[in-house]
Amino acid sequence: MLIRYKKSFKKIAMGLLSYMPREKELRTLTETMESYEADDNKQLFLWREDEDIVGVIGVALSDTRAEILHIAVNPSFRDEGIGTEMLIAVTKLFSDRTVAPTEATNRFFEKCTKESR
Ligand SMILES: CC(C)(COP(=O)(O)OP(=O)(O)OC[C@H]1O[C@@H](n2cnc3c(N)ncnc32)[C@H](O)[C@@H]1OP(=O)(O)O)[C@@H](O)C(=O)NCCC(=O)NCCS
Repeated sequence: MLIRYKKSFKKIAMGLLSYMPREKELRTLTETMESYEADDNKQLFLWREDEDIVGVIGVALSDTRAEILHIAVNPSFRDEGIGTEMLIAVTKLFSDRTVAPTEATNRFFEKCTKESR
């Protein structure tokens, strides 16, 4: 299930975000976390599977759009549909907005939306 980020999840969230190709450097990753914590228009969610937190998805919100900035799943839990489930959950949560990818999430987003057409 999708859960909203809170500070007690910071380490696990950073660990998951670091699977994004552009978040490999600690400095970039720290700046990314700070931007989610500081900017109300950026929201971070985690995916809980039983007792484990295994995925992360981050969005940038405007009045009409929800852009997927980050999406990552713990490698031990990949190819089980969790990435797809996170996209579906965020799309439902922001059903009043157009959900769209950024360059960093485009490939997976396109794959998922192509398959559900
Ligand atoms: C992308 C990611 C979140 C998918 O999570 P997941 O839980 O494995 O996703 P699902 O199980 O719902 O879907 C798996 C499918 O997505 C495909 N996929 C994985 N990464 C992909 C990518 N970067 N672009 C396109 N498709 C991708 C898999 O090959 C698999 O395809 P198949 O069903 O035809 O075998 C995960 O691979 C990940 O954390 N990658 C590293 C972070 C990253 O690069 N994020 C940006 C992605 S654009």
